[in-house]
Amino acid sequence: MSKRENDSVPSRTEGSAKMQLAVLISGGGTNLQALIDACAAPDYPARIALVIANKEDAGGLERARQAGIRIQTIRHKDFTERADFDHSLSAALEKADVDLICLAGFMRVLGAPFVTRWEDKLINIHPALLPAFKGLHTHARALEAGVRIVGCTVHYVGIDVDVGPIIAQAAVAVLPGDTEESLAQRVLKQEHRLYPLAVELIARGQVTVSDGRVEIAGSDSSSEEAVLSNPLPSSRK
Ligand code: GRF
Repeated sequence: MSKRENDSVPSRTEGSAKMQLAVLISGGGTNLQALIDACAAPDYPARIALVIANKEDAGGLERARQAGIRIQTIRHKDFTERADFDHSLSAALEKADVDLICLAGFMRVLGAPFVTRWEDKLINIHPALLPAFKGLHTHARALEAGVRIVGCTVHYVGIDVDVGPIIAQAAVAVLPGDTEESLAQRVLKQEHRLYPLAVELIARGQVTVSDGRVEIAGSDSSSEEAVLSNPLPSSRK
């Protein structure tokens, strides 16, 4: 039995307050934008309390500024030891009293002490259908491998890169003539839908982790008939 059994992320929505999010970014922040847009809905059960970037030129910082969200830059380059960078991140997150940390294109590997400290409160979005294509350049590797379906995954962060209980996934077909860029765009569109959905499920207290697997209470699961096939069954001669 996992020590996480029956644990769930504490949901502030059980009271009246919204779940407090921190979003960690390194780049353009389109996933951050999707979360900002979702949080703008009055009935969305979370709000972004803090955006942290590990570099000052992260484009997503401007998105946060535009939305009036508190931002903080903690430059990894200012630290010689990864542990010190992680410690500084933790201190900022503790100070902001956040409930859930969303990695959104955050390009630093977080050490085991950090991951353990924030266990069950740390999630990531990865542009592949985990456990396939962990790491970088997922779309190029998917094209190279000739897979016909790709997608994205929202997961709790485990102690290793791109591992941890899977919360949500979305898939798209690889089309003839697809390039790394066209595939990235099509998957990114799904990321922008999936990340706010996963955060909402967590904030509403519907997500629990048992034996390293996620259970979701009261959500609409796909039906047996909901099959993504590539090629389509109708193209059979
Ligand atoms: C996304 O594809 C995300 O899955 C990956 O990094 C990319 C970040 O894009 N982890 P953006 O900064 O959210 O636009």
